[in-house]
Amino acid sequence: TGVITLDEGFVNTGSTRSSITFLNGEKGVLRYRGYPIEELAAKSDFIETAYLLIFGELPDAAQADEFRVGIREHTMLHEDMRTFYNGFPRDAHPMAILSSVVGALSTFYQDSMDLNDEKQVEISMYRLLAKLPTIAAYSYKKSMGQPFIYPNNELDYCENFLHMMFATPARDYMVDPDFAEALNLLFIVHADHEQNCSTSTVRMVGSSNANLFASISAGIGALWGPLHGGANEACVNMLETIAADGGNVKKYVDMAKDKENGFRLMGFGHRVYKNFDPRATIIKATCEKLLAKLQLDDPLFHVAQELQDVALKDEYFIERKLYPNVDFYSGVIYRALGIPVDMFTVLFAIGRLPGWLAHWKEMHDTPGKRINRPRQVYTGSTAREFVPINER
Ligand code: CMC
Repeated sequence: TGVITLDEGFVNTGSTRSSITFLNGEKGVLRYRGYPIEELAAKSDFIETAYLLIFGELPDAAQADEFRVGIREHTMLHEDMRTFYNGFPRDAHPMAILSSVVGALSTFYQDSMDLNDEKQVEISMYRLLAKLPTIAAYSYKKSMGQPFIYPNNELDYCENFLHMMFATPARDYMVDPDFAEALNLLFIVHADHEQNCSTSTVRMVGSSNANLFASISAGIGALWGPLHGGANEACVNMLETIAADGGNVKKYVDMAKDKENGFRLMGFGHRVYKNFDPRATIIKATCEKLLAKLQLDDPLFHVAQELQDVALKDEYFIERKLYPNVDFYSGVIYRALGIPVDMFTVLFAIGRLPGWLAHWKEMHDTPGKRINRPRQVYTGSTAREFVPINER
């Protein structure tokens, strides 16, 4: 029809019906398939949560077992894929590596192109869940100039990731259960967030019937940006700058209010949450617990707390309903685990993967699904005549 409704940034536009995640931004409510995030964070684990998101129900013991074993079967990368890493510059950002290598999975698993073959689609999901931590850990090893460490299927998902990150052939890495638990919790709270930028990207690309690897690779690209998943890296960089500047948080709060300089408080504000971000509450509590347990006194944690206190009392932030979001404290936890800053968004991607898979599957399973194809309001020139180059 001729009438186009314009909603820049999609503030009020629903792109789909979905039964995966419920969000109430005014009340700070987040539920996966009906289960409150607080309860999942306290009682579930990441793989069980992934199953819940993808298949719609919590697994029984046999289903959970089958799922875990199914994922474990695929943790190795094809040996030829290791050679990709030789081609990347050593200082390549790991998000760039992640998105490239995930995209390249469809060159190795060409049977993934057949989207009508349900079994193949399921195997592609298992492959992604299993290989993303391996691909991620290899990107870190590459940056360190260390040999890749093969996955160890005796370990659980989070332990195995820490093992591949930090073990070397010269030194075994004893995975600290507190570290694995913290990682597990971070993955759960990142696992889905309805139609966010990267999930919408996965759906957008997937709506053309592109294969799962291509769709997820695109989602990783979307997540990388500092307004989305890249905020966790940007946030810690900002906290470091403030700490190095004598911890003068007021100066940075004032800077964030000034529209001229383009500076924003990273880890602050959210499109949907206008009261508080329930994920930030869970993460802050975990952060305090972990730092206390490790007897770590991270100055960045103090800077973050002070920044939060000052900003939350400031008229500018109150008026605009800006609160700390999921990325505000997550970086402090990653630091405590020894994860380097440029890997933070990669960890977000590992956490968000089940959500992307669930949405991709939901879309494909919807009868009468159509390609996503927004319209526009054209603002360019009206029709005009072509001018030859020598007359321009
Ligand atoms: N610092 C200073 N001002 C801000 C901030 C901030 N972090 N966030 C929003 N504002 C202001 C913004 O300038 C605007 O002011 P005005 O109405 O005077 O023009 C108002 O608040 C509304 O902001 P918006 O940009 O229209 O809001 P949005 O819904 O388009 O953007 C956001 C949401 C998350 C991109 C934004 O709050 C932001 O840039 N935050 C910093 C980056 C960040 O932490 N991102 C992670 C989001 S949570 C994890 C995830 O989902 O990826």
